[in-house]
Amino acid sequence: MEVSEAVNKRRSIREFKDIPVPYDALEKCVDAARLAPSASNRQLCEYIIVDDTPLLPQVFDTVRIWFGTPPPGRRPKAYIITLVNGPLENELGGVRKKTIYDAGMAAENMMLVALEQGLGTCAILSYQERELRRILNIPAKYEIALMLALGFPDESPVVEAAAGSVKLWRDHQGVRHIPKRDLKDILYRNRFT
Ligand SMILES: Cc1cc2nc3c(=O)[nH]c(=O)nc-3n(C[C@H](O)[C@H](O)[C@H](O)COP(=O)(O)O)c2cc1C
Repeated sequence: MEVSEAVNKRRSIREFKDIPVPYDALEKCVDAARLAPSASNRQLCEYIIVDDTPLLPQVFDTVRIWFGTPPPGRRPKAYIITLVNGPLENELGGVRKKTIYDAGMAAENMMLVALEQGLGTCAILSYQERELRRILNIPAKYEIALMLALGFPDESPVVEAAAGSVKLWRDHQGVRHIPKRDLKDILYRNRFT
């Protein structure tokens, strides 16, 4: 798959087939994260793969899936939690704060490699941190940067041109529509106009 095709195809997936995700596929995603750009090449991100069947509902209860909670059976079949080894808010002249960009770039690598393997993903920032830390035994010195929910997609959201609003919506068939701003509205050449 061409990179641009993958970028075009990737949509946030929030409803998944009731089949497990092979661990190898998840590991491949983290390996792609490992190779992502890193400010000063510090590589402070580390990852937890959650694919244990009894653990999945516990993790699900800590997250908020926007635009409608998927029913049981259609929930994520795995999670990858990006941790940062140290505080994100800087005490080192902003160096650590840059790590949040590392986490974002690593996330996109993971999402694209997941897509290549037929998996759907959704980035998640809405989670109950204290509860998640407890369930996954995350040490206090690590910060949670981002979660990814994963599974084989059971929905096919479509991108459309944003006509004013960028609000996601569902049509009568339950298909999610994702309005994206037009290139001409976000791109300037040489100077801001
Ligand atoms: C930093 C970040 C945090 C997000 N957090 C959540 C979240 O907590 N829950 C959720 O359902 N979606 C979350 N999303 C997914 C966005 O809603 C989604 O990317 C957006 O609606 C655009 O859709 P697309 O990813 O299909 O292009 C998050 C996305 C990003 C980049």
